[in-house]
Amino acid sequence: MPGINDLVFGNKAQNITGAEQRIANGRIAVQELARYKEAKSKGDSQEAALALAGFNAHKNDLGYGYLATAQAAVPPVATTFYSFHLMVVLGTLFPLLFLLVLYHLYKNDIEQCRLLNTAAFLAIFLGYIASQAGWVAAEVGRQPWAIQNLLPVGVATTRIAPGNVQATFFIFLTLFTVLLLAEISIMIKQIKIGPEE
Ligand code: HEM
Repeated sequence: MPGINDLVFGNKAQNITGAEQRIANGRIAVQELARYKEAKSKGDSQEAALALAGFNAHKNDLGYGYLATAQAAVPPVATTFYSFHLMVVLGTLFPLLFLLVLYHLYKNDIEQCRLLNTAAFLAIFLGYIASQAGWVAAEVGRQPWAIQNLLPVGVATTRIAPGNVQATFFIFLTLFTVLLLAEISIMIKQIKIGPEE
């Protein structure tokens, strides 16, 4: 009986062999591209044509040329697998919860269902967790690619100074903290007013 690891990681060895070949092709593509640029800058059209032909023959594996090892071509499978499943489990649970709430609403006894009320309250936070799990599945699952097979994230990084990134981060942090505080104070005010009789 195959275990979860066999199911998830089963064809890893095969993928690594494929990745090694693609890394070799990719390195040729990277070299030919550099050769093409140099030939162009020198005005050597014959050399440029040769380099372009070499590049075209290997361009589908260009991104692999930037990877250090075949292992780097494999995304963190377990994180992607579990976060995706967490998202889907929660995404299946929510409609069931909604149906249950709807049923008790029509039965007009929702206020007596303490367990359901607690579950509905917890679902607020589970919604955020499902959303984060989906984001993790998408972002971790795409690794190492910014553009599939063409541009690894390590090469796609910007040359913007760290200070600029930090400044943007703290501006957003301040802005969203202010918005959160405003939202909490509005909610507390409304809770104090209470429902209309
Ligand atoms: C049966 C339920 C669900 C299914 C089948 C499903 C399926 C998917 C799929 C296929 C992706 C794309 C992953 C990728 O990029 O390869 C995704 C992404 C995502 N999902 Fe779900 N999902 C479900 C429920 C939910 C729920 C309930 C939430 C949030 C409350 C959620 C939030 C997200 C988010 C935020 C992303 C990332 C989008 C992005 O950044 O590209 N999903 N989901």
